[in-house]
Amino acid sequence: MSSARTDKSSPAFIQTAARDEEDPAPSLIRGIDSPQASIPPWFLYDLIGSRLFDVITVLPNYYPTRTEAQIVATNLQAMCGARDVSGAALIDLGAASCAKAPPLFDAVRPAQYVPVDISVEFLRDAVTKLQTEHPEIEMIGVGTDFSKELVLPAEVTATPRLFFYPGSSIGNYDPPEARGFLKRVRRQMDDDATLWIGVDLVKDTETLERAYDDDLGVTAAFNRNILRNVNRVAGTDFRPAEWRHVALYNEAAHRIEMHLEARRDLAVTWKTGERRFAAGERIHTESSYKFTLESFDAMLRQAGLSTVDVWTDPQRWFAMFVVAPST
Ligand code: AVI
Repeated sequence: MSSARTDKSSPAFIQTAARDEEDPAPSLIRGIDSPQASIPPWFLYDLIGSRLFDVITVLPNYYPTRTEAQIVATNLQAMCGARDVSGAALIDLGAASCAKAPPLFDAVRPAQYVPVDISVEFLRDAVTKLQTEHPEIEMIGVGTDFSKELVLPAEVTATPRLFFYPGSSIGNYDPPEARGFLKRVRRQMDDDATLWIGVDLVKDTETLERAYDDDLGVTAAFNRNILRNVNRVAGTDFRPAEWRHVALYNEAAHRIEMHLEARRDLAVTWKTGERRFAAGERIHTESSYKFTLESFDAMLRQAGLSTVDVWTDPQRWFAMFVVAPST
């Protein structure tokens, strides 16, 4: 184990790769103007969308966050025993508010905590606060677009590396992209590195659909809010109230799909064009893939990784995989 910085009293923040500077408007418009209209799911996460997602994670209907936390709390010692991670560089992928990693600190005793998100600005407040609570851990906030390449700064020196990717965020990628993401993580893993990754499991359709269409309408608001963000980014004139939230489980594709459905015939305009929607026509806004233990193990193998062990809750709704590089 080694550590680069002796002054651990304040965190470091390093932006290794900037967010894509390309104007997203043309490709957004192309997606809206396609016969099967779609909007990329990352437009769900502006300031309001991120706040709404935080609320979703505590809704009674949305079981993944709660179930994963229970699995980790119950099995943390066993997870640490499955593969040596003590003194690790704990690399928290998509850390955002850094809420999920601190409960691991006592068991893992990381030498470095490395939360990674698209921009260091998303991390600054949470990491600064966390550093005062854990002065013994060197904290390095990293901003990078890991949907493109995972670039970790040279300051991440502690070994072994423990990558942490909770929440079944892997499920928001289509399978080829998910494999690509896992391969990028694999490239950052030495032989002694470990990945802890949470995945949501296939289950009955009713439970799945209720998790994505909750009684309070928070997920509906989260979905409709994407239209406000698109208006801001692409200059469109969507009126969110004219769109109905639809969440359905596509059994053949093993995924929940979120759509927005036009409540009546309507038109959306932008500077140089217009798209007419017939009543009932839908815009696809998000997919959330569900796995079996076998299907996720197979995906890991395709990415040069292998399952060391896996833990589930008693209902087998969610799974936490401990993963190593394949030899
Ligand atoms: C972030 N991600 C794992 C969530 C999911 O369950 O796919 C996003 C979400 N969409 C609607 N509810 C939650």
